Amino acid sequence: MEITLASGAAAQLEAGALVSYAFEQEKPVEGALAELDKATGGALGRLAESRELTGKSLEMTLLHYPAGIKAERLLVVGAGKKEKFSAAELRKIAAAAARYLKSRSVRRLVFLAREEERTAIGAEAIAEGLLLGEFEGDKYKSEKKEPAPGIDAAALAGWDGAARGAGEQGLARGVALAGAQNFARELGNEPGNLLTPKVLGERAEQMARDEDLDIDVFDEKKIAELKMGALLSVAQGSVQPPRLIVITYTPKKAPAANAPVLGLIGKAVTFDTGGISIKPANNMEDMKFDMCGGAAMIGAMRALAHLKPQIKVIAVVASTENMPGGRAQKPGDVQTAMSGKTIEVINTDAEGRMVLADALHYAKQLGCTHLVDAATLTGAIVVALAGVQTGLFGSDARFIEQVLAASRTAGEKMWPMPLDDEYRDMIKSTIADIQNVGSGKGAGASTAAAFLREFTGDTPWVHLDIAGTAWITDAKSWSAKGATGVAVRTLAELAMQLK
Ligand code: BES
Ligand code: MN
Ligand code: ZN
Repeated sequence: MEITLASGAAAQLEAGALVSYAFEQEKPVEGALAELDKATGGALGRLAESRELTGKSLEMTLLHYPAGIKAERLLVVGAGKKEKFSAAELRKIAAAAARYLKSRSVRRLVFLAREEERTAIGAEAIAEGLLLGEFEGDKYKSEKKEPAPGIDAAALAGWDGAARGAGEQGLARGVALAGAQNFARELGNEPGNLLTPKVLGERAEQMARDEDLDIDVFDEKKIAELKMGALLSVAQGSVQPPRLIVITYTPKKAPAANAPVLGLIGKAVTFDTGGISIKPANNMEDMKFDMCGGAAMIGAMRALAHLKPQIKVIAVVASTENMPGGRAQKPGDVQTAMSGKTIEVINTDAEGRMVLADALHYAKQLGCTHLVDAATLTGAIVVALAGVQTGLFGSDARFIEQVLAASRTAGEKMWPMPLDDEYRDMIKSTIADIQNVGSGKGAGASTAAAFLREFTGDTPWVHLDIAGTAWITDAKSWSAKGATGVAVRTLAELAMQLK
């Protein structure tokens, strides 16, 4: 889909559909809608009066061949209560409109923003919504519908005159961010047989080449040389060799010596069977998504290649399968991580924290002053927050606040979770320094975070448990089912804001 800024009156633009939105209030027809109401000779006002058009969130009102409007259709999307309106709501409206019109074979649309949203943030949210809504995870269907449905072109209307520059800016940001997020979603949807750690490394290399980023992909030999015993312990049960993917963005203008270096650490388990502590068969197919943390980091790097932050950013993605092969590690085994810490493996299904242990340590060695990891780490966070919020843990109050601020700007919900020292006590081992699961019952997401903390030292660090938010099982009116690409926008925003 190509998105541009439109020029001139929206009612005069040719398109398959002209889209705008109405609030839930006594008079839903106001602002930009009032213009369209006038053009259509009062059609919208009459629909509002008869209560067909109410402005209820994501309500769709479609008019065909409306008199006075050049577009073949007029779509009014409900925007909900005005007091609750936000860029997140606008993004959702645009996404739902894209999906609704795509299913009706519309190829070109014009999106008319109200005056209040004719800003950089407004243009960004609409561009993101259109691109994210358009996305579909049906890559391996052999019978494609003809002609392939999809929106080829969208024009954002309303950014005329003084607002033009802000519109261009927001549009460019939105295209970069949604493109990167959709890239992460594509990776997340790939099946485990086709996206092995080796293939993920190749995909990252291709992206880095295209975007002019530096990349190193370490194979199993190099990983062994680095003594990444925790990552290797998970990988040893599979015939597929592991990879460590390191992508570096360096700003053109050299940052000050004391400038932050942001490390983005991702869990990329391309399939998690649980290993010898094997998972039940039910829904195990979903465990192809266990690389979504790594995909988010690779996606964020792609976004940053476009957005060009002023600081250095390094992604470290640890990729492996977790399989119960003949060489697989066993419960009770003791492993030595790259940091020298020894780990008693109580449960081989707690593999994400093992691979992150070495990736976090390595990122610190590379000189990262701030660390954020993203991982589909625990079922416990799904119990606590479902798909509504990403669980956020951290060791540094200021850095936690910075990541939360970035998440608010990006419109990705994240909730701070506890990481008291008592959770650290729960991962004490009899035989080794620590064990890979908490003793006793409960707080599975916090004991997992406490385990990761052991490998971050004094470096400000935030852990995002995206096990609940990285995947949606049922399609929504504003999104396809499958991988969501969560955290890409927040991480890119964080890199832009961090000083
Ligand atoms: N990848 C899973 C986490 C997961 C589980 C995500 C269910 C989504 C749904 C992770 O590797 C895992 O298996 N975690 C275990 C840890 C346990 C053995 C301490 C879990 O949460 O059950
Ligand atoms: Mn697991
Ligand atoms: Zn896992």
